[in-house]
Amino acid sequence: MDVTRRDSLLLGAGALAAAAAAPLHAAPAATPKPSLNAVAKRRGRRFGSAVGMGRPHHVEGAFADPRYRAVVAGECGLIVPENELKWSWVQPAPGVFDFSGGDRLLAWATAHGLALRGHNLVWHHPKWWPAWVTNHDFGARPSSEAERLLTTHIDTVCRRYGSRIGSWDVINEAVDAQTGEMRETVFSRAMGGRPDDVLDLCFRTARAAVPHCQLVYNDYMSWEPGNEKHRNGVLRLLERLKKRGTPVDALGVQSHIGSGNNEGDPSIFGPHDERTWRRFLDDVTGMGYQLLITEFDVNDRGIKGDIAQRDRAVADYARAYLDLMLSYPQLGDVLAWGMTDDRSWLQERPPRADALPKRPCPYGADYRPKPLRTAIAAAFAGARSHHR
Ligand code: XIL
Repeated sequence: MDVTRRDSLLLGAGALAAAAAAPLHAAPAATPKPSLNAVAKRRGRRFGSAVGMGRPHHVEGAFADPRYRAVVAGECGLIVPENELKWSWVQPAPGVFDFSGGDRLLAWATAHGLALRGHNLVWHHPKWWPAWVTNHDFGARPSSEAERLLTTHIDTVCRRYGSRIGSWDVINEAVDAQTGEMRETVFSRAMGGRPDDVLDLCFRTARAAVPHCQLVYNDYMSWEPGNEKHRNGVLRLLERLKKRGTPVDALGVQSHIGSGNNEGDPSIFGPHDERTWRRFLDDVTGMGYQLLITEFDVNDRGIKGDIAQRDRAVADYARAYLDLMLSYPQLGDVLAWGMTDDRSWLQERPPRADALPKRPCPYGADYRPKPLRTAIAAAFAGARSHHR
């Protein structure tokens, strides 16, 4: 049975209607062989991607497009729901759990022999809470109420998927990128202004619920100037977690690399950047943590030139980054935050000066592989093997 037919059987009527509405100018191009996951596998790793089934006509609605599913099925060994397992989706109202998105993606992944990873149990950033959490009345005993909410959520979500999710981002983005300090949230305030207590509780609850799952702290620190405080904050956090014996297995390095919100070209890894980044990764792995790349894409907002020049620059930049990352045997799974340019979340971020669509993914909006795809394959092929 081909991918599209098998999908039709798994999808409900709503998603099918959305899939039918997706532009279908071209039949899905066959993905090259060996797949990115096959190349990664030779070095003991897996390659995967985010899949979104949010607003169907937005970049998030990638899953509704059969061409997108074909690229993911052809290239990946695992997927991660872009939004569907976040608190706002899973517990949209107090005590009301909705697993429809996660279940649908799990069914599709299983049918295609793909694993699923979980993102995220707690996005430790006030901006991303559902309003009901932000406005929640924590009552006379705020600390117990915070504990109750957190443990109920984590326990319910972890147990729902059990061993079918092998790796969870338990906490996302707890360190303030500007100050390097821990972010305060409604939960940390309710628990006496101690964000570390929130993290301990979350990791311990996850460990008890899914003892064999890889538990990850995920964040977006980088080597770039201006990131010193963020890096140091993450290192200090990882140190404290280690000291207290909090069950954290790995650091998830989001890896939204490239020009970010800057207008200029990304700083290609010079020797200084490379030293800075290696020092950070050495410190992390020196403490005994594993590494993952959880959300890789290359923002070309500031990269000038024609399409071919931009694609070349993106591929070269990615290659330098991935070569460095993959020189660490502690680095396991590598996941892209989307496989095709038209479905990238970056299209909804600040635009390029020339207003042209960005080209941050391994495949173009025509669903054909780009130089970035070749660069990823080459980086995997030349990498050191992964070992724990
Ligand atoms: C983004 C999604 O891609 C968007 O669809 C959503 O609107 C906001 O979140 N870091 C993360 C991801 O950890 O969860 C974010 O995903 C991208 C940045």
